[in-house]
Amino acid sequence: MDLKQYESRTSRPIQAKVPDFQRHERLKHVLFSQQFNTGLLNHLARVATNIRALAKSRDGHIWLSQLLPHKRAMLYFTQASTRTFLSFTAACQILGITCNEIRDPKVSSEYKGENPLDSVRMFSSYFDLIIMRSVIANFAECCAYLMNDLERSDQRSVPIISGGAGTDQHPTQALLDMYTILRTFEFTSPQDSSLRTRFAELQSRYPSLTKGPADKTYCFCGDIGRGRTVRSLSVLLSLYENVTMIFVAPDHDKLRLSGDLKQFLISRKVKVIETEDLREVIGEADCLYMTRIQHEHDKPEDKTFFDELDMSRYTLTPEMVGRMRDYTPIMHPFPRNEEIPFEIDKDPRAMYFRQARNGMWIRAALIAYLFDMDGRIMSKHAEMFSDYQSYNEGVLA
Ligand code: CP
Repeated sequence: MDLKQYESRTSRPIQAKVPDFQRHERLKHVLFSQQFNTGLLNHLARVATNIRALAKSRDGHIWLSQLLPHKRAMLYFTQASTRTFLSFTAACQILGITCNEIRDPKVSSEYKGENPLDSVRMFSSYFDLIIMRSVIANFAECCAYLMNDLERSDQRSVPIISGGAGTDQHPTQALLDMYTILRTFEFTSPQDSSLRTRFAELQSRYPSLTKGPADKTYCFCGDIGRGRTVRSLSVLLSLYENVTMIFVAPDHDKLRLSGDLKQFLISRKVKVIETEDLREVIGEADCLYMTRIQHEHDKPEDKTFFDELDMSRYTLTPEMVGRMRDYTPIMHPFPRNEEIPFEIDKDPRAMYFRQARNGMWIRAALIAYLFDMDGRIMSKHAEMFSDYQSYNEGVLA
């Protein structure tokens, strides 16, 4: 595979790349969190919430499934995935998009030596969207450049969505995390905040508590250095005012917050705190984001370090949950190992299963947006729910 041809483009700072992934002030490809601003995040969250409301009724479900029946998506996931793969599949199905998949390159012609860049170009001949996760660093980004080059020579070119790659970034995980945070801190949805009716009471207990993602302390715990989800979400959270981020990680070069991300966050006026023990900071978090230690990336020379590591510093216990704020959501991108014991699942603040389901709605919203269907969804939602809304306005007036 010759990815060197793209090196002059992949080696640029991310901000310099962002315009390459846009068309007419909308996203074409989705590769980095830096492609999103708060306006687009709020818009996608609104579209996602409209889709979930429409999908509840038979009529709304059928209407959604008739939006994009003329589109086909290829899910090219040659690195392991459960949630990203399945939620993208479900998102496509909601919108009526037909999906196909390759998960094991041994059952494709890559087994016969086909270059993965040729594979992706072939997919673009048959499909209208390619969603991918690869073990090859920067591969999704290179595929976006391949599509751009084809477009420039008037050949077929389709959007590329990264489903998370290596330790790079996981932009759609960050989207679903952000959607979960936006919903939770609205303090209005019965599914996302068991305390919705107690916001005034919460404010008297926590006087600085406000609605929305700004003015909050976000605590990330676990494998910070190798965690692409932490990297991508922290970039999105840095878009909001007065944000503090606490990073709790073992004192190891590969696990602690990387220097480049730390500098980026500080340049965005984020207050950054680093520590090695979750127990010391658990009461300060407005939002807790747990991650597992990604042992699949360990090197043999790290064995002694991990054998001697005190994991109780990075593991949530019911006693610690008892010291958390009443409203603090417990998030996790999953899969989990031992860092969140099963007994915590029943706590109303355990958000990780709802968070994963939010992934299906926000990914459906993103795909609808890429195919310019977001406006139609908003209009349909307004039309379907206007009677309900005017009834409520009448009753509440
Ligand atoms: N959170 C996440 O990306 O999960 P999968 O690896 O199962 O897709």
